[in-house]
Amino acid sequence: MATTAATDILLLFSAVLLLSTPSIAASASAPAVAAMPVQPQELLLSFKASLNDPSGALLTWSRSTPYCNWSHVTCTTAAGGGGGGGGGGGDADVAVGLSLQGLGLSGDIAAEPLCRVPGLAVLSLASNTFNQSVPLELSRCATLVSLNLSSAGLWGPLPDQLAMLASLASLDLSGNDIEGQVPPGLAALRGLQVLDLGGNRLSGVLHPALFRNLTGLHFLDLSKNQFLESELPPELGEMAGLRWLFLQGSGFTGGIPENLLQLEQLEVLDLSMNSLTGALPPAFGHNFRKLLSLDLSQNGFSGPFPNEIDKCVMLQRFQVQGNGFTGELPAGLWSLPDLRVIRAENNRFSGRLPELSAAASRLEQVQVDNNSFSGEIPRSIGMVRTMYRFTASANQLAGSLPDTLCDSPAMSIINVSGNSLSGDIPEFTSCRRLVSLSLSGNALTGPIPASLGGLPVLTYIDVSSNGLTGAIPAELQSLKLALLNVSYNHLTGRVPPSLVSGVLPAVFLQGNPGLCGGPGLPANGGCDAPPSTNHHQGLALAATVASFVTGVLLMALGAFAVCRRLHGGGDTTKLVLFYPIKITGDELLAALHDKNVIGRGAFGKVYLIELQDGQNVAAKKLIGSGNQTFRAVKNHMKILGKIRHKNIARLLGFCYSQGGEVSVIYEHLKMGSLQDLICAPKFTVGWNDRLRIAIGVAQGLVYLHHDYTIRLLHRDLKSSNVLLGDDFEPKVAGIGIDRVVGDKAYRSSLASDLNYSCYIAPEVNYTKKPTHLMDVYSFGVILLELITGKPAEQPASDDSVDIVRWVRRRINVTDGSSQILDPVDVSHAAQQGMQAALELALRCTSVMPDQRPAMDEVVRSLQLLHSPQTLPLPPSFTGVALEP
Ligand SMILES: *[C@@H]1O[C@H](CO)[C@@H](O)[C@H](O)[C@H]1NC(C)=O
Ligand SMILES: *[C@@H]1O[C@H](CO)[C@@H](O)[C@H](O)[C@H]1NC(C)=O
Ligand SMILES: *[C@@H]1O[C@H](CO)[C@@H](O)[C@H](O)[C@H]1NC(C)=O
Ligand SMILES: *[C@@H]1O[C@H](CO)[C@@H](O)[C@H](O)[C@H]1NC(C)=O
Ligand SMILES: *[C@@H]1O[C@H](CO)[C@@H](O)[C@H](O)[C@H]1NC(C)=O
Ligand SMILES: *[C@@H]1O[C@H](CO)[C@@H](O)[C@H](O)[C@H]1NC(C)=O
Ligand SMILES: *[C@@H]1O[C@H](CO)[C@@H](O)[C@H](O)[C@H]1NC(C)=O
Ligand SMILES: *[C@@H]1O[C@H](CO)[C@@H](O)[C@H](O)[C@H]1NC(C)=O
Ligand SMILES: *[C@@H]1O[C@H](CO)[C@@H](O)[C@H](O)[C@H]1NC(C)=O
Ligand SMILES: *[C@@H]1O[C@H](CO)[C@@H](O)[C@H](O)[C@H]1NC(C)=O
Repeated sequence: MATTAATDILLLFSAVLLLSTPSIAASASAPAVAAMPVQPQELLLSFKASLNDPSGALLTWSRSTPYCNWSHVTCTTAAGGGGGGGGGGGDADVAVGLSLQGLGLSGDIAAEPLCRVPGLAVLSLASNTFNQSVPLELSRCATLVSLNLSSAGLWGPLPDQLAMLASLASLDLSGNDIEGQVPPGLAALRGLQVLDLGGNRLSGVLHPALFRNLTGLHFLDLSKNQFLESELPPELGEMAGLRWLFLQGSGFTGGIPENLLQLEQLEVLDLSMNSLTGALPPAFGHNFRKLLSLDLSQNGFSGPFPNEIDKCVMLQRFQVQGNGFTGELPAGLWSLPDLRVIRAENNRFSGRLPELSAAASRLEQVQVDNNSFSGEIPRSIGMVRTMYRFTASANQLAGSLPDTLCDSPAMSIINVSGNSLSGDIPEFTSCRRLVSLSLSGNALTGPIPASLGGLPVLTYIDVSSNGLTGAIPAELQSLKLALLNVSYNHLTGRVPPSLVSGVLPAVFLQGNPGLCGGPGLPANGGCDAPPSTNHHQGLALAATVASFVTGVLLMALGAFAVCRRLHGGGDTTKLVLFYPIKITGDELLAALHDKNVIGRGAFGKVYLIELQDGQNVAAKKLIGSGNQTFRAVKNHMKILGKIRHKNIARLLGFCYSQGGEVSVIYEHLKMGSLQDLICAPKFTVGWNDRLRIAIGVAQGLVYLHHDYTIRLLHRDLKSSNVLLGDDFEPKVAGIGIDRVVGDKAYRSSLASDLNYSCYIAPEVNYTKKPTHLMDVYSFGVILLELITGKPAEQPASDDSVDIVRWVRRRINVTDGSSQILDPVDVSHAAQQGMQAALELALRCTSVMPDQRPAMDEVVRSLQLLHSPQTLPLPPSFTGVALEP
């Protein structure tokens, strides 16, 4: 939850009120019993004594300071008398909060002394690595209002005794390995407002009393407990104040109970990834006036979708993909005023897609692939100014492509393949952001429009399996393509040479008898008048063609290009290439020589290799890859080898030797890495180009995180892994090494690489599973490098802090950013852009993972800074340095 901090403060405050009511204050301040009352600070020190605190987060806890001044301790008084009163008597009206989340703590949670701290109201031990069961003694913390033990490494059953925490308003036990039943006794916690048990191993049936009695709950999360196997309890409908309900991925079966429809306060309803079946009750949606997000995806729902969804006037996300819904999508859905996302793919919806009110609609994403929609593509789809993705593949859409299809200034992805569209491909000219255009498997005719060559970021074009005629326009050569599939059309003439020269891009041409001059095609076959190339070039081309042929065809089938066995020192070594580059295994082995080393990282040295044809590639010899079989390595590499994105460096192949040693071959870019650039004596690249680098890197990460068929994490993002091409177009390298060396070896190598530790998110040491937010952190560090023009490890020569700390300190000291922004470009616009980027970078490098933005949001924010009107200045201008 984004509101955590605020919620905690509120809770703390309400605890204060509670404690200051006369009856409770009286009972708490009548301590004249037998034993000497132990000072709270002694209790806290005794609690601390059983903890392991490797990072020294609790060093300030000492007898010489009042405990209210200790780090991670907050004291709040009811009468507003200041928080410094710790240590003395009269603490009964002080509410104490302990916020120990994310400190790398382990050891034993000594709940017994802790719970005797008077007024302990808020306790968070979240995101630490305790390895124990939920401490029973916590049930004695009678004044506790908020208990957060999420992702704390807890296991075992959930003790019934927690029901004794009568003041509890918020209980978060998510992300542990807690097992067994949810104790029905928790129903006694009548004041509970937040209950989060998501991501555990809870099982059994949920007791109805839980829902009947917890009527004050507004947040309930039972998601990702795959053994819960229960029907949705009708009593859920009695929790009238429920605003957030997360039940996804928990094995729920059966239908949606009618009672659920009464929850008028619902803002988020997530029932996705269960085994729910049946039709939705016809009144579904009628009472959901406040619903912002509905997710019913990946279940077994069937029947039509109720029209009452049009009452959900606040709805932003509608996700019902992966069910068996039939009939039309309710007409009212499309005109909901705030709707951003419609995901309805993989259902059996039919009917027409309606025209939208382009002026009023705020839709960003419409995904309706694999249904039975018919009729034409609405003209208005591309005119909605926020539309970013429109995919409607595998339907029965007919008619022609609207020429307005990507008039939206945001439109990036269009996939209408596998329909019955006919007519010409229109001259798309205003698609400034179009990245991917898939029109394959239709009945389109006419030529491929030359205007496609003028779309600035178009990267994927698939127009295969249509009836297109004419030549492949030479203009396409000006695109930075990752994939061009024109196979199975009636194209003729010569393939423009730069589309098929060099290693890249991946071009698929087969099934066009009239084409010539490309891989797998006759050199001159269908071409009447070959252009006047000299004889020599023709031969060279033919030779290239021959060597490309196998590779490219095999790649089209998703298989390997080449796999050669070599014999070196008695061992069998296997070389696998995903692109037909000219290298033999012997040459590769010979080139892995110290004189060719161009870099070193945590996972091994990087070598520069010159191929027979003069091209350069880079090879990284992985250390610590010892124990994986060829098969396992091959499978991982295959996933990485299929990535095609203009901002991701291509994996060209790899070499595996019997001992399990793996060398990975990447494309190499002449300009070197971003780190080289930053560490050069003068880093004089202008802000516009730096922004372009940032956007490119961010786009590459979005692709890995969200758009590639398998969700990938980078996990080793740093400026030396950002390679730079022409015009500073970046390519991210070094992806997915963790998959090859295994997680354990990966983590230990990373930990040993002190030079780069500043790119690693602080939570890495105490989180079991790596997350995309760790990549966001690393990206934030790179963004800071671009903004400050300083290297990440040691931005200031007289100080050994890393860039994140350096920047934060300066912001604190100077109360502003004037001394942080690189003065390379002092124009007002650039300084403003840098300032905005700085704010974004600070969010990305937030210590709290949940405060970091996702990469797609980062891209959108950065693109806003890159105003389309400002054309890039010629290099001579952007290179001007204005160092003080
Ligand atoms: C518990 O702590 C974690 C980590 O700090 C935080 O993400 C989560 O929102 C907290 N839970 C509640 C209910 O505040
Ligand atoms: C404790 O904090 C209070 C309020 O912030 C401050 O006035 C006081 O000087 C601090 N005491 C010590 C010993 O640091
Ligand atoms: C937790 O403790 C058990 C037994 O004490 C040990 O086998 C296990 O490896 C520990 N787990 C972690 C993650 O440290
Ligand atoms: C639920 O509330 C009722 C009274 O409203 C009470 O009698 C019952 O004991 C409660 N159930 C549990 C399990 O606490
Ligand atoms: C298409 O959707 C149906 C459900 O209606 C699903 O069973 C099928 O797997 C989907 N096909 C693809 C290729 O995803
Ligand atoms: C377009 O849709 C087709 C069919 O659903 C799918 O196979 C293809 O991968 C999609 N293309 C892109 C670029 O996502
Ligand atoms: C190119 O298009 C053909 C025909 O639609 C298809 O069989 C092939 O898989 C496509 N290749 C790629 C890499 O998308
Ligand atoms: C490979 O496995 C052996 C024994 O299982 C172990 O001793 C060795 O450390 C492992 N090597 C690596 C690089 O993980
Ligand atoms: C993780 O722990 C290691 C040692 O245990 C430490 O050197 C490193 O700085 C820690 N990393 C982070 C990001 O805190
Ligand atoms: C900057 O100041 C804030 C509060 O004013 C503090 O929490 C933070 O730790 C400071 N950062 C550094 C790096 O000193």
